[in-house]
Amino acid sequence: MPSTDHETSLSDADFAKLRDIVHQTTGITIAENRKSMLFSRLQRRLRETGETTFSAYIDRVTSDPVEMQELTNRVTTNETYFYRTPRIWSHLREVVIPRFLETPGTRQMKVWSAAASTGEEAHTVGVILEDVRKSNAGFDYAILGTDISSRVIEIATKGHYVGRPVARFQKEDPDLFARQMVGDDAGGYQVRPEVKRRITFRLHNLLDRLKTGGPFDVVFLRNVLIYFTHEDQEKILAHVHAQMKPDATLIIGESETLGSLNCSFEAVAPLIYRPVFGARKAGH
Ligand SMILES: C[S@@+](CC[C@H](N)C(=O)[O-])C[C@H]1O[C@@H](n2cnc3c(N)ncnc32)[C@H](O)[C@@H]1O
Repeated sequence: MPSTDHETSLSDADFAKLRDIVHQTTGITIAENRKSMLFSRLQRRLRETGETTFSAYIDRVTSDPVEMQELTNRVTTNETYFYRTPRIWSHLREVVIPRFLETPGTRQMKVWSAAASTGEEAHTVGVILEDVRKSNAGFDYAILGTDISSRVIEIATKGHYVGRPVARFQKEDPDLFARQMVGDDAGGYQVRPEVKRRITFRLHNLLDRLKTGGPFDVVFLRNVLIYFTHEDQEKILAHVHAQMKPDATLIIGESETLGSLNCSFEAVAPLIYRPVFGARKAGH
């Protein structure tokens, strides 16, 4: 029989096991003082599965990949919104795109939103690049959004946005919003179909190498490195590096830095890096 809340408790030993499982499968480190957070995120799942104890739930998770995905969906933090960190979008418009347009050769810009969450980042790139495509004959783009959570990938693929995620975009750039977003039947917004068809989303764990889709001209790796140990950050950055073109751009999150990491990236501007090939960056 399903348990009631007061019957289920999370022992320190089970908390340690769950932290371990989450760390091994996702790389995410759950801090020791986050037991009540984990408890409240999983308590409902126990009720849904009918497990009466966390020990039973742990047995289930370790033997059932579908439940492991459910656990992953519940422990990830997916906060995101259109136009997050305005200055990186200015850099994209004023530096990265003009340089791409001036460079002879390929006319298709490939972009990877490498911890895409519900897709607002990939869609922000899409509406900016669609504007460029309209005014530059021959220019095109393809955007890949990936995430470890199947729940957010499903939402991103639908691409229906309402409320806070879009409000900021509407406020920051009302003209672009009017040009590229269309209202839908459910009272929300979607990007125009020509943008939508150039964006794809799929499940991917950053601890693994991305096997198809690259190499990319621009990679967004924002607000995700913070969840990992230094060792895993370096591993992820090596994977990302392997997917970048020589003159590509890496963009990280506001509270992140690559400064103390052993990786082949060089700072270009705050939050903006470029890959270094051949030798490691100075100091490493
Ligand atoms: C806070 S959101 C960042 C969204 C977006 N990049 C932004 O800055 O607005 C972090 C995302 O990283 C994803 N994530 C966490 N660990 C991951 C991993 N090992 N591989 C891929 N994605 C992961 C989470 O599921 C979550 O959606």
